[in-house]
Amino acid sequence: MARTELIENLNNALSLELSGIIQYSQHSYLVTGIEREIYKGFFREQAGEAKEHAETLGDKIVALGGVPTVEPAMIRQSTELKEMLAQDLELEREALAVYMVAWKSCGEEDLPTQFWLEERIAEEQLHVEELEKLTSERTSKVNSERIVLREVS
Ligand SMILES: [Fe+2]
Ligand SMILES: [Fe+2]
Repeated sequence: MARTELIENLNNALSLELSGIIQYSQHSYLVTGIEREIYKGFFREQAGEAKEHAETLGDKIVALGGVPTVEPAMIRQSTELKEMLAQDLELEREALAVYMVAWKSCGEEDLPTQFWLEERIAEEQLHVEELEKLTSERTSKVNSERIVLREVS
């Protein structure tokens, strides 16, 4: 029973990674203006990472006796860079949440899968944090007049 639930949760993660491949690729096609110089590459890199994540999930699901889904989750698109980044942040947050649910559904016999998921969760957390910085949702509170650089001896 626990195994079935785990496979279902991993398939939910796979759906999100599949939409990551498509959504990031689409954003790399749609981004225009001076930002294209940087963001075309950025979006393609993220699409590549989503593809790697999808592949490892597909392999894992079959190893656990399941059938990998071929259905992506919702895909969001925009022609505005700011909106694209907000859409990608949403997707990364959903992925992180789903991986956490999968982690929780690991039974005693799934400890190795649980360890594997921990690595993935740490990676997805970084994606969320980076996108929070890119969308300026996350900033440091620094008083610029009082920055003191310490001397290193
Ligand atoms: Fe991922
Ligand atoms: Fe991610």
